[in-house]
Amino acid sequence: MTTEPLPVTAAASPPLPAAAPYTLSGDVLHHHWLPVASVAEVQEKGLLGVQLLGEPLVVAVLNGGDLNGGCEVWQDLCIHRGAKLSLGRVDGSQLHCPYHGWVYASGGQCVKFPAHPEQTPPAKAAARTYRAQEAYGLIWACLGEPQAELPAFPEWGDVSFHKTWCGPYTFRASAPRVVENFLDVAHFPYVHEGILGAKDVPEIPDYDLSVQGTQITASGIRVYQPDPDGTGVGRYVEYTYRVLGPLSASFDKIDEDGRVFSIFMSVTPVTETLSRAWFAVALNYPGLSGEALRAFQDHVASQDLPIVESQWPERLPLDLQAELHLRSDRVAIAYRRMLGEIGMTFGTA
Ligand code: FES
Repeated sequence: MTTEPLPVTAAASPPLPAAAPYTLSGDVLHHHWLPVASVAEVQEKGLLGVQLLGEPLVVAVLNGGDLNGGCEVWQDLCIHRGAKLSLGRVDGSQLHCPYHGWVYASGGQCVKFPAHPEQTPPAKAAARTYRAQEAYGLIWACLGEPQAELPAFPEWGDVSFHKTWCGPYTFRASAPRVVENFLDVAHFPYVHEGILGAKDVPEIPDYDLSVQGTQITASGIRVYQPDPDGTGVGRYVEYTYRVLGPLSASFDKIDEDGRVFSIFMSVTPVTETLSRAWFAVALNYPGLSGEALRAFQDHVASQDLPIVESQWPERLPLDLQAELHLRSDRVAIAYRRMLGEIGMTFGTA
């Protein structure tokens, strides 16, 4: 089994537009690890400007291209005159500002003013830095004190699984709306008719649900699919969905031969209403090629996109009285309840 590299450029994602500041009250997400970039794009460019929770960030590899301990995430702002450091360049373990050439060392301290090379930069001449780590082919950042571990993705380290990264897919929608769409199987017959569901069999039988803190498991979710095996014969398939944190989730689908099809997903809240969704497909059987899986996921995401972007209010209502719910929505209800319990306070606009 091999591990497919994460594509540098997502075919389905347009460039990110400028967006309004993130205004989530409580700053809960500042204390969670969130994905900001793929390892592949950081390795290719060495220096990358991204945005997380409205904060412009620069992701840099500052030890000659070795991500192991060398990937750093800083505020994308030079302390001198506010230029974007992501427009600069990396030279070994140093980052050079593009405007007046200030040289920053690993850890964010400025070590040289080119206009005054005899002067030792003071301690306050430093970039603001954030915690960063590499995992599962992504770079993760935490803007505050981490209050939770990375979301679990055990298949990543299991050599019997073939992994393919898909996306990231850009949604002009709030990240929880994107996660909730991932958890929602009742839309399959309508949004993904002929692929993941069939309109003439839209029923969702009852399923089991367990909640432990931020970990939610919904098992025995049965969905009729028109051709789940590529044989042209429709049947019910059974999913287990897991909520792994405020903006991460996964599912697996296991057939009677023990073949596992699973997807891990995590969403970057670029701003409160702009998101990038990362999907990793993991299979423990040969199945489709990585290219075919990416094409399939691109297609599924393109079907979800206009629906999710149309949802109103943009921010997921955490007041359970704000929208109507059915039994088949129990996992979504549990997700909304969990977000409220950890202190997220999305409004209604
Ligand atoms: Fe960065 Fe002047 S703004 S060196």
